[in-house]
Amino acid sequence: MQATEKIWRNGSFIPWDDAQVHVLTHALHYGTGVFEGIRAYATPKGTAVFRLNAHLERLRRSAALYEMEIGLSTPELAAAIHETIASNGVGSCYVRPIVFRGYGEMGLFALNNPVDVAIAVWPWGAYLGEEALEAGVRCKVSSFRRYGPNTMPPAAKASGQYINSVLAKHEATRSGYDEAILLNEQGFVADGSGENVFVARDGVLYTPPTSDSCLPGITRESVIQMAQSLGYDVRVATLVRSDLYFADEAFLCGTAAEVTPIASVDGQEIGGRGPITKQIQEVFFATVEGRDERFAEFLEYPVTATVGT
Ligand SMILES: Cc1ncc(COP(=O)(O)O)c(C=O)c1O
Repeated sequence: MQATEKIWRNGSFIPWDDAQVHVLTHALHYGTGVFEGIRAYATPKGTAVFRLNAHLERLRRSAALYEMEIGLSTPELAAAIHETIASNGVGSCYVRPIVFRGYGEMGLFALNNPVDVAIAVWPWGAYLGEEALEAGVRCKVSSFRRYGPNTMPPAAKASGQYINSVLAKHEATRSGYDEAILLNEQGFVADGSGENVFVARDGVLYTPPTSDSCLPGITRESVIQMAQSLGYDVRVATLVRSDLYFADEAFLCGTAAEVTPIASVDGQEIGGRGPITKQIQEVFFATVEGRDERFAEFLEYPVTATVGT
């Protein structure tokens, strides 16, 4: 990863290299952290953060589930994020706020451990590779299942939950694929290791419901609105493995992956970027780069409050 200069930590900026934790940090042992993946884009009106409030609301819900008090209001967190971007002098970048249980006590009862809040930003290009934005990625249906709502609620973005995605991602790449798609405990399509899934069939777009154990992706929700504005019928519907194989087009979407076509699933060719995917990609990139006013409200610019020294 490309280091930047400063990290925001509990209200102050510290040098990137000083943002360390004790080896007995609770979150390191038990996964008791919650985080967000957010992107900021350089636009003609300055750097804008894509759907910052929606991300911060999800962070707040994730923290509440694991009983972590963030100690900052959403506008304060938003201001801290804008300040971290500005003070590192980065334009387009990835933004990673994390709230985690720090050093204090060992054992699974975490509520007496301190809650640390940190924000890092760094330049991060196309997550699945620049060429994948056109050629698409080769996906593997993972042999690892996505955890269900009564195992670890998939609606939260908790550090420990990502162990499941790491297993799937490693298995997929070790087997020669680019990305993993996970089925839920019932065998229905959930999501990618770090993306939501869409398929197109006969001009209709389908994406799994959150009740099928996918993360309620903010890109997914944005893409639904964008596709509808293009006149597409978008259905949130349970998908089975063969829906992936038989798709006319399919794509992954997420903050990191943005909108990336799926070239094949388990070696079954779907093809590169199809016309619907291309149209959605165009609206998505025009929106985030500030070239399309239809979804201008998705771009959030700096607010005035200051929470950093
Ligand atoms: C498992 C999983 N699904 C879907 C997504 C996409 O969510 P978003 O669009 O909010 O980044 C992510 C990314 O955070 C993810 O980790």
